Amino acid sequence: MIAQAPFAKAAEPVKIGFLVKQPEEPWFQDEWKFAEMAAKKNGFTLVKIAAPSGEKMMSAIDNLAAQQAQGFVICTPDVKLGPGIVAKAKADHLKMMTVDDRLVDGAGKPIESVPYMGISAYNIGKQAGDGIAAEIKRRGWDMKDVGAIDVTYEQLPTAHDRTAGATDALTADGFPRGNIIQAPQSKTDAESAFNAANIALTKSPQFKHWIAYGLNDEAVLGAVRAAEGRGFKADNMIGIGIGGSDSALNEFKKPTPTGFYGTVITSPKRHGEETSDLMYTWITQGKEPPKVTLTTGMLATRDSVSLVRQQMGLTSN
Ligand code: GLA
Repeated sequence: MIAQAPFAKAAEPVKIGFLVKQPEEPWFQDEWKFAEMAAKKNGFTLVKIAAPSGEKMMSAIDNLAAQQAQGFVICTPDVKLGPGIVAKAKADHLKMMTVDDRLVDGAGKPIESVPYMGISAYNIGKQAGDGIAAEIKRRGWDMKDVGAIDVTYEQLPTAHDRTAGATDALTADGFPRGNIIQAPQSKTDAESAFNAANIALTKSPQFKHWIAYGLNDEAVLGAVRAAEGRGFKADNMIGIGIGGSDSALNEFKKPTPTGFYGTVITSPKRHGEETSDLMYTWITQGKEPPKVTLTTGMLATRDSVSLVRQQMGLTSN
């Protein structure tokens, strides 16, 4: 007697979608790269989809169902679309896991039923803030002369938590709260951060030195470029980003150091490969991924970046 297979039938090829909000950002390219590795290793088809708007995302999910995919991993362009995405995945009989940005419901609360992998946002923000504070002290700056550009993106909870962590760490280390200038960006890219930072710089001409932090490397790079435009270069600027993919690496490769002092390297390998592995196991064995997985990061500067990447298993690729 042949036992009935309870999950994806052995003969049925496994197809998994990986939808990202900002495909031009190196972080998401890396996630895709690592997701491809999971696909090769496990022998499933990965469908990479750019979903920069809610509309594109919804039609991409239907498209995956039409292609007979069994599930997808998603970083949505807008977490508030949460209930709509959940309903769409259900209607299309697709398993769903979120990565990076966690879906929220109508009240702004996380949708806990959907498995999620994201960075430990507050703690990683704290690492950035502590790293900046340590460097301010090493340089012997008087904190009252230092302005902080806090590049914010409050509509995204993980972004809020990251910058809140950095702010808290800095103030705990003695940085004057009144010197922190919020620079709200309209999108999570370097150009929006550049525009936001320019406004902050214009508002506060009194400072001798500047520091900057934000949700990712692009946010801090935008601030660093804006400060450069006002003459604040490596000697008078300390920016620490979050991510550690090509945006940061290219900055460290420049022959002369810039105000982009460091980055807290997080793991696109875990976010790309492990999420895909988890989705594959869910489809083939019926084992649902953990509801929440929070990944850690390590602070790296121009000098330590190679070693830190090695320690995080990111160099062989
Ligand atoms: C968000 C940000 C990305 C990246 C990821 C990491 O999606 O927009 O730049 O930092 O989080 O989880």
